[in-house]
Amino acid sequence: MTLDDRRADFPALRTRPDGTSPIYLDSACMSLVPQTVLDAMTAYYRDFPGCGGRSLHRFAEEVGRRYEATRAAFAARLGRQDPSSIVFLRNSTEAINLVAQGLDWKRGERVLISDREHNSNLVVWQRLALERGIRIEVLPIADSGTFDAEALEERLARGVRLVSLFQSSNLDGLSLPIREITDRAHDHRAQVLFDGCQAAPHEPMELDRWGIDFYAVSGHKMLGPTGTGILAGAPPALATLRPLLLGGETVEWSTLAAHELRPPPYRFEAGLQNYAGIVGAGAALEYLAALDPAEMRSREVALNRRFTDAMADEPRVRLLGPSDPADRPSVAAFTVAGVDPHDVALFLDEGHQVMVRSGRHCVHSWYAERAIPGNVRASFYLYNRPSDVDALVEGVRELVARVPATGTSAGRKAPAPRAASPRRRAAGSRAAAARSAPPRRRAGRGRAAYGAGSG
Ligand code: ALA
Repeated sequence: MTLDDRRADFPALRTRPDGTSPIYLDSACMSLVPQTVLDAMTAYYRDFPGCGGRSLHRFAEEVGRRYEATRAAFAARLGRQDPSSIVFLRNSTEAINLVAQGLDWKRGERVLISDREHNSNLVVWQRLALERGIRIEVLPIADSGTFDAEALEERLARGVRLVSLFQSSNLDGLSLPIREITDRAHDHRAQVLFDGCQAAPHEPMELDRWGIDFYAVSGHKMLGPTGTGILAGAPPALATLRPLLLGGETVEWSTLAAHELRPPPYRFEAGLQNYAGIVGAGAALEYLAALDPAEMRSREVALNRRFTDAMADEPRVRLLGPSDPADRPSVAAFTVAGVDPHDVALFLDEGHQVMVRSGRHCVHSWYAERAIPGNVRASFYLYNRPSDVDALVEGVRELVARVPATGTSAGRKAPAPRAASPRRRAAGSRAAAARSAPPRRRAGRGRAAYGAGSG
């Protein structure tokens, strides 16, 4: 079966009654789910809706079995030999928070992050700096993607307790050499935490072999349901963390005066869990395991190259990140001179059925340093095809042709798409509302697009 055949597995891509089929280029935010994931979640509620690890009846036994099977599947995908290295959480944000807030920081200890971290790997450290006196060191990352090992060494030499970095950037798709970083960090007795959100959906990992201490992943970016993230911790590292939440299933015993925590991972999984989601994530991992990562990668690179090449003769379109699409396979981030990124996104959606993400992608700090309002991001995954890219190219070209080149990138309004339907016309007013409202007043699409949440 080729990847083309697999499109039919994704119900969200089906042709709609008006004859259109969605062109989804936003998998870096959230991937689509195959029917098998929907079936698995339905089966949970329909066939064995119990709570795992508690009752002894057949429903509960079946949930427990599937819950642990998903844990083992995550371990296999990520190269952890011991399934108990996998902690079920809501998303990678929660996984990073568990590490950040779970380590016993002493005043003056240092965490090293990069200058392009998602808010989930920035804000928590800022809070710890304020509340526990930790120090934040920042590693600059070149936009070309060239890794500066000297800059890393120089910062590690200052004494760093934890290196906490993205593996592949959600902003422009560039990747860091995580094995080299891990080796260098360990040479300086620092631990490492990687946010694998944008990498793990595309290829299996070998975390044990590479010596990664902590690794955070969100299931909703790898064909799974929302609310299914994990922390994959090396067992000795996991054992040092203090749980974020305590409650049912986290303790061996309790009295009115005391309790004893269970070993990892259970001490971190307080309360009733997202059983339907975790069963669904298991189906997603099964689906991914049947795919050839090399085929996926070459398809993503080919799609990204098709777009990059098409934009080469559009002087007003500027691509961000490494120039070679092979160095940012699943992400094409760009600006259109003279047009607000959100207007570009709305124009593409309303006029060309192309869904992309626009804004600051929860990496506000990077844009603030450069004083730019954001960009458009198209992201590719296994179910995308060349015609999706062609629709994106056609949309961008139409926009460029219709908006005069003069003016600034901030605040210019995109024209209504050709042959505007009532639905399309509405986009113009949404775009205008999103642009003009102050950030905290933006609602609906505008608010989300401007990255008011941590994403
Ligand atoms: N981190 C997600 C994104 O980049 C939300 O879209």
